[in-house]
Amino acid sequence: MPEPEGMALYQAGLVAGRTGLGPLLEIGTYCAKSAVYLGAAAREAGTLLFSIDHHHGSEELQPGWAHHDPEVVDPATGVIDTLPLARRTVREAGLEDSVVLVVGESASVAKWWKGPFAMVFIDGGHGAHVARADFSSWAPKVSPRGTLAVHDVFADPAEGGQVPYQLYGELLGSGEWEPGGATGSLRLLHRRAAGGLTGAGQQATL
Ligand SMILES: C[S@@+](CC[C@H](N)C(=O)[O-])C[C@H]1O[C@@H](n2cnc3c(N)ncnc32)[C@H](O)[C@@H]1O
Repeated sequence: MPEPEGMALYQAGLVAGRTGLGPLLEIGTYCAKSAVYLGAAAREAGTLLFSIDHHHGSEELQPGWAHHDPEVVDPATGVIDTLPLARRTVREAGLEDSVVLVVGESASVAKWWKGPFAMVFIDGGHGAHVARADFSSWAPKVSPRGTLAVHDVFADPAEGGQVPYQLYGELLGSGEWEPGGATGSLRLLHRRAAGGLTGAGQQATL
């Protein structure tokens, strides 16, 4: 999460949080870097960030893959476990009152959670099956006039995997969402309300 993308996430979270449409939700905590940006926004807006992760790493974070970090492997189990690191990050940022870490598999958690959310940020697994499950599980839980943020959207296959880009394109094509801006690989979408107006999208200034 490069800083410009983190700051764009923070600003989007702040605007969405202040609408009062619901809490903020993140799929993919990892070590909680993005959760600190969104958690700071949640605190300032007077709401909460829920951040979901099973903490065992995506496919592309497993041993043998380019993004694997051996320091996130629990020596007792030999399995990736980023939960202690995420908890430490949130604590050191002073955000324990604003960030709720939810440990579980995203689509399974979604079955028991209605929403709505003022903002959902999708940055979980990037494999086709897992990412599609995240989009179909969580995008419908964004409130009308709420915001959906998607990470790692690359139009050029030379820059990165195409799954988030394809799913982002499908949402845009549905007519239910309108584009809300781009920073690096971060894309924002605003959910249309009945009549076609969006709320968060109209509040460009903080
Ligand atoms: C790219 S990392 C998230 C990075 C984080 N948002 C940041 O910018 O600091 C993706 C995370 O999604 C988690 N993940 C992948 N598939 C998941 C699933 N089906 N359910 C829950 N978490 C999942 C992985 O464990 C990993 O920690």
